[in-house]
This record gives sequence, structure tokens and C-alpha cells, in this order.
Amino acid sequence: MGELLKVENLNVYYGSIHAIKDLSLTVNEGEIVTMIGANGAGKTTTMHAISGLLKPRSGSITYDGHLISRMDAYKIVTLGLAQCPEGRRVFSGLTVHENLELGAYSRKDSKAAVEDDFNMVFELLPRLKERRNQLAGTLSGGEQQMLAMGRALMSKPRMLLLDEPSMGLSPLLVKEIFRTIKRVNENGVTVLLVEQNAKMALNIANRGYVIETGSITMEGKASDLADDPKVKQAYLGGAA
Ligand SMILES: Nc1ncnc2c1ncn2[C@@H]1O[C@H](COP(=O)(O)OP(=O)(O)OP(=O)(O)O)[C@@H](O)[C@H]1O
Ligand SMILES: [Mg+2]
Repeated sequence: MGELLKVENLNVYYGSIHAIKDLSLTVNEGEIVTMIGANGAGKTTTMHAISGLLKPRSGSITYDGHLISRMDAYKIVTLGLAQCPEGRRVFSGLTVHENLELGAYSRKDSKAAVEDDFNMVFELLPRLKERRNQLAGTLSGGEQQMLAMGRALMSKPRMLLLDEPSMGLSPLLVKEIFRTIKRVNENGVTVLLVEQNAKMALNIANRGYVIETGSITMEGKASDLADDPKVKQAYLGGAA
């Protein structure tokens, strides 16, 4: 399987703060790759650089053969790379259905194809179907998280960037969200997943990267990382 996303020697600054330092990673077509790391390590910053919301100082990001590190965010979405941002950024005054429609807005294919994807999203996330006419702002936190994911899927992405999809969810919903990510991937969508829930993330991922203060410090097969004593100590609650 070929490389779909390649980040090389990425450097991102906020003013004089050097947030991302020479970071490199790759995601192959069909994989789930996770990036785990503590608060403030630079996970969201990396995701924003990939999705075009932040411009790197140096380094390159290539997606499907396109150099995207200097491309505008809206254009990157049209290449099939969608982001589901950290926090629950849904349009609270719009219904579930309207939020999903907005996700499909950059697509140029037929109405019928979009309709198929409504069905796909409702099949993956049945709670959204039950609540399709409800205002997004009145959904529970977990439901809003699902809506944010559903909206990203409506852009028919080839690759999905997920930033902390399990944040703030009950254990039951966390399980549901991870199951959904796995199914989305089985439907052919490549996934880069940023998580503080390292255990669950390494459980569904093929490969993983550990990020510390803006740099990758470890990488490997997800199962190897999950067995690594240092990873266990720092990210898996210290269980030996
Ligand atoms: N707009 C900003 N201006 C200045 N510094 C910022 C800005 N956004 C993030 N930072 C800093 O960059 C570093 C990386 O932040 P980032 O949000 O990428 O971390 P993270 O790994 O996503 O953390 P979390 O797990 O808490 O979401 C942090 O030290 C943070 O304080
Ligand atoms: Mg973050």
C-alpha cells in the first residue's frame, strides 16, 4: 500500500514559540495511524498544519502527490482530506440534517451520491438518524461529537483526520466512537487519529507515533508500542 500522507521535517511556530520541531510521519493508504502524546505536546498543531489551518515555517506535507503545506484549507478538503476538529464544532442553530448537508457542500458529484452518503452516515451513526431534525445545539456532548464526525464523512473523504474524538465521552460512548472509527476505516477511509486515550487508540491502529514537546520520540507497530514499557509507564496508566 502506498503512502497517502507524508509529513517531512515539519516546523511550526506560534510567534517565537517553536511548537513543532522537525516532525516527520507517514500514513499509508488504508491504515489507521495514531499519534499519542500528553497535553500540549503538539498534536492539534500538527493536525492543523496538515489540514491547512496553520502554515508551517518549514518542511513539507504531501497528500496523494499534492504538496499541500502551502494550500488553503478549503482546497485541501476538495482533495479528499477531511478534518474532524478537536472539541465539538457543530452549527448549534442548525439541525442535524443541515449540519450534515454542510459537510457535503464542497462536493461536485450527484445529488444521488450525496443521498447515498446520508444513508451511510445514518447507518454508521444511528443516533443521528433518530435526531435528524433536532437542533445541533440541543444534542448531548457525545451526540455532537458524532455529528462532527458525520459531517466530516459527508465530504466523502479518502482520508480523515480525527482530533481527540473520545474527549469528554462516557466509557460507553468512547467504545462506540472507536467502533465507528474502525468501521469507517473498513469502508476504505484512511485515518490519522490523535488521542489521549492511548489504550483505545493503539488497540484499533495499525501504527503509532509518540509525540513529546513537538517532536516524534517513538514510532512503530501499534501492538509493539502498546507493549513498550516506556509507553505503558507514560501513556497507559503505568500498568506493567
Ligand atoms: N495559538 C497559540 N498561540 C501560542 N501557543 C499555542 C497556540 N496554540 C497552541 N500553542 C502551544 O503549542 C503547544 C502545542 O499545543 P497543541 O494544542 O498542539 O497541543 P496538543 O498536543 O493538541 O494538546 P492537548 O492534548 O491538550 O489537546 C502548546 O504548548 C500550546 O500552548
Ligand atoms: Mg489538542
